[in-house]
Amino acid sequence: MPPLLKAAAGSLAGSLRVPGDKSVSHRAALFGLFASGPCTAAGWLDAADTRSSLAAVETLGCRTGLADGTLTVTPPVRPLPAGPHLHLDCGNSGTTARLLMGLLAGWLPPGGPAVMLEGDASLSARPMARVIDPLRAMGARIDCLGEPGRLPVRITGSDLKGLRHDLPVPSAQVKSALLLAGLFADGITEVHGGGSSRDHTERLLAVMGLPCEAVGADGLRVAGGRRSGTFAIAVPGDPSSAAFFLTAAAMIPGSRLTVTDHALNEGRIGALAVLRRAGATVDLDRARGPREGEMIADVTVTAGPLRPFAITSREVPTLVDEIPVLAVLATQAPGESVISGAEELRVKESDRLAMTARNLQALGAVVEELPDGLRITGPTPLRGGPPGRPLVLETAADHRIAMAMAVAALVTEGSLALDDRACVGISYPEFFAVLDGLLAVR
Ligand code: S3P
Repeated sequence: MPPLLKAAAGSLAGSLRVPGDKSVSHRAALFGLFASGPCTAAGWLDAADTRSSLAAVETLGCRTGLADGTLTVTPPVRPLPAGPHLHLDCGNSGTTARLLMGLLAGWLPPGGPAVMLEGDASLSARPMARVIDPLRAMGARIDCLGEPGRLPVRITGSDLKGLRHDLPVPSAQVKSALLLAGLFADGITEVHGGGSSRDHTERLLAVMGLPCEAVGADGLRVAGGRRSGTFAIAVPGDPSSAAFFLTAAAMIPGSRLTVTDHALNEGRIGALAVLRRAGATVDLDRARGPREGEMIADVTVTAGPLRPFAITSREVPTLVDEIPVLAVLATQAPGESVISGAEELRVKESDRLAMTARNLQALGAVVEELPDGLRITGPTPLRGGPPGRPLVLETAADHRIAMAMAVAALVTEGSLALDDRACVGISYPEFFAVLDGLLAVR
């Protein structure tokens, strides 16, 4: 029998620290490739996803070390050896694949060895044309070796020219890929339409002495051919990991929970605003951080009477990875909560709208799947299986679905299990141990 998910015997209380931010940790590994010397990132997230980025830059010639949670990356000292293609396995990581595509299109020397990017089954099904097409318009040589617009791809070095591009979806990954390519292009590259998507690329480039210039309503401009510097940063706690615990605290009456060193980046804290709208009190204490780089604060969530909430497209980029767990919260709020403008969730590590709806329906929640979101009517008691015959929820090997369902289990009566617990290792290997610790505090 698979290990059972646990219900909460009472309210949640205490204080915890979550691992380093996944997006910042990816960038810390990848940007070492074009740095001018050794770079460091304290509090680096050591998880399967960020390991994909680290292994990639190691294969490309970076020296790396991880000691006491601090990553050191030293850029390659010699060019890539001529010879057969290098293979880079991006695993499950869209950030690794998309950012590397832009970076390698510019960083690889014309006439040098080609590099193949591949990924697991989930990543190989995700859309890449949104990155490949504008990169090709800049002069990149990217060949799709399977289906058009999908991994695996082969990238061969070529001379790039600057481009003005309007993003069809406000994706930080696509924005970042084009900005990185733009650093190596001839002339100016402009990327518009990033909306409220996360700006970790822009911040880390600024720390390296490569600031992007703001243009128009939400455009960014980089000039090619500039010399880069180094960075020594502290990675903030990941708001997307914190959201599982903070949402649980908002959902379980009487709870009061603090996450210390929580990132304060405006493009990442949409879920905190939703918790407030849903009735919780959210306090930010000791806001601190560098002028360039990433601010942090200690975030305390205190449960209050729940209210239904709406999330619309403008807000989606600021909480895109938190939607499955916010949907769990909505099942316990009295009234109709509507999440819309979130069609991007269908092309994440799984179709997260379908997976969230299917699992919550299996638990007895009233959830309607919309083309671009979810309509959830609460409150409904959530029910698992009888003793000895757990209801087994499906994760599609998606880490965020697994963790969101572990939060649903906290308020579920009956026995419940997941078809795959190990997938949490993509972003938060210690998740279940931390959750168990929290449930043991009485
Ligand atoms: C990420 C951006 C988001 C997010 C992903 C990480 C990043 O995707 O879902 O987990 O590190 O840039 P998009 O902004 O590309 O949708």
